[in-house]
Amino acid sequence: MSEKTFYLETFGCQMNVHDSEKVVGTLLQEGYRQVETVEQADLVLYNTCSIRDKAEQKVFNRLSDYKKYKKQGKTFGVLGCVAQQEGEKIFERAPYVSLVAGSASYHKLPQMLRQLEEAQSRNSVSDFASSTSTEGAPPFAVFEGWESMLPVANDLSAAKSTEKPVGKPTGVKSSGQKPVADSLIRITGLDDRETDKCFETEFTARTNPHRGYITIIEGCDKFCSYCVVPYTRGKERSRTSASVLAEARQMADLGYTEIQLLGQNVNSYKDSEGNSRLRKSFAELLAAVGEVPGIRRVRFTTSHPRDFGRDIVDAIDAVPTLCDHVHLPVQSGSTRMLDAMQRLYDRDQYLERIAWMKAAKREISITTDMIVGFPGETEADFAETLSLLDEVGYDAVFAFKYSPRPNTPSIKLEDAIPDEEKARRLDVLMARQREIQIIRYKKYIGSKCEVMVEGRNEARAQWIGRTTHNKTLNFTASATANPNTNPKAGSYVPVVVTGSFPNSLLGELVV
Ligand code: 5AD
Ligand code: SF4
Repeated sequence: MSEKTFYLETFGCQMNVHDSEKVVGTLLQEGYRQVETVEQADLVLYNTCSIRDKAEQKVFNRLSDYKKYKKQGKTFGVLGCVAQQEGEKIFERAPYVSLVAGSASYHKLPQMLRQLEEAQSRNSVSDFASSTSTEGAPPFAVFEGWESMLPVANDLSAAKSTEKPVGKPTGVKSSGQKPVADSLIRITGLDDRETDKCFETEFTARTNPHRGYITIIEGCDKFCSYCVVPYTRGKERSRTSASVLAEARQMADLGYTEIQLLGQNVNSYKDSEGNSRLRKSFAELLAAVGEVPGIRRVRFTTSHPRDFGRDIVDAIDAVPTLCDHVHLPVQSGSTRMLDAMQRLYDRDQYLERIAWMKAAKREISITTDMIVGFPGETEADFAETLSLLDEVGYDAVFAFKYSPRPNTPSIKLEDAIPDEEKARRLDVLMARQREIQIIRYKKYIGSKCEVMVEGRNEARAQWIGRTTHNKTLNFTASATANPNTNPKAGSYVPVVVTGSFPNSLLGELVV
């Protein structure tokens, strides 16, 4: 049997990156080999993000670039948030796509892949792949998932219609039917947003050998008014602490020293462990992961202020391996805007959480996400966001212009703030934050930090390290003339900070 190859491109957040690691592992397990270019691949997968901007348009543009490859018999699949959001529209606009699956269906990926292969092998006798036109198309195969989305008609003649052969799924089950065009084989995994299942696989192909992600909770039940995630990733479902800890131990055995616990909202983690005596809160799970022998650093993202408990700060105080960094997205400094965004906390409650962190035994670096130009945001609201920057003293801010997203409550609000004004607010915010960071980063000069070595920048003759505060610390190792004692990627070394920039630190290895 000839070897099956796949190419996977990933966009978006860490959740998507980690989903892709699990998808890759699953494909390898199914006998596929990963290749580095679309040209080399039989199966081309595109893991998409729809959190902001016109993400779906970008996906359709990319798919239209791929169209030419269909003539070479390649199979295309769209995964992730745009797949879930656009659903059958993807088949309408890109009929050469064969697989559309949202993340809540990934647990069924092996079955979906096998269905795809079976359908293709049934078709191998016919050479429809050379045609990307849907005109006069033969009946198309409809598989699991599709039927639950849309009614399936029995009238095969409709499928021969040139009016609109795709999008209205007049289809037949593939078994026992004559071959159908490869371009019209459709596997969908879109009906699982209500699933209770997590995408757990033993076959995660992690890209970094030292630092790895573990998903602890999938989906989101918060429904912030601007956010597409609850619609694309489905409802909240947590893994058992036993399974998370088993994965952490397995990673430690494989030599990983840093673990990042992932979820859209890790703070609403609810252990589904059967034995109630063993059930852990998020803070307890965090501490337990930090106590796994061999694990030196544990991070977690993302937190929601409403669910962020003081016990997390207590855990950081108690367990030295928990990193001195919390990412706590605020979105706005104005209580009025937080209310409009349905964030479920006000400015004072947010600041209370900041105060817990500032009272911690170790200095915790705090980072956040902000949205500017949400409908109705006045100059006074924006001024409150700026004053929050000063009050908190963030170590990094990820700021975005509001963009209306399909299905979200805020899409009904008029997006009245012009793009130029959103851009202006973004610039003002980032300029203010830059000043704050210059001051904050300068404070590290003269101090000694332990870094995990991430690699080397040959052009600058510097090593790249990361501190527990999640800061990049580039350093030289002048005293180490012997290349055998050079720092190695994944090792932890002490570095004294000699200089600072708004986004990184500079240092010298301590020998
Ligand atoms: N517009 C702009 N920014 C958004 N984010 C999420 N949805 C939107 C949107 N519709 C930002 C939030 C979130 C981060 C991951 O992306 O700041 O925390
Ligand atoms: Fe989106 Fe809000 Fe859920 Fe975060 S907490 S993923 S912003 S709905």
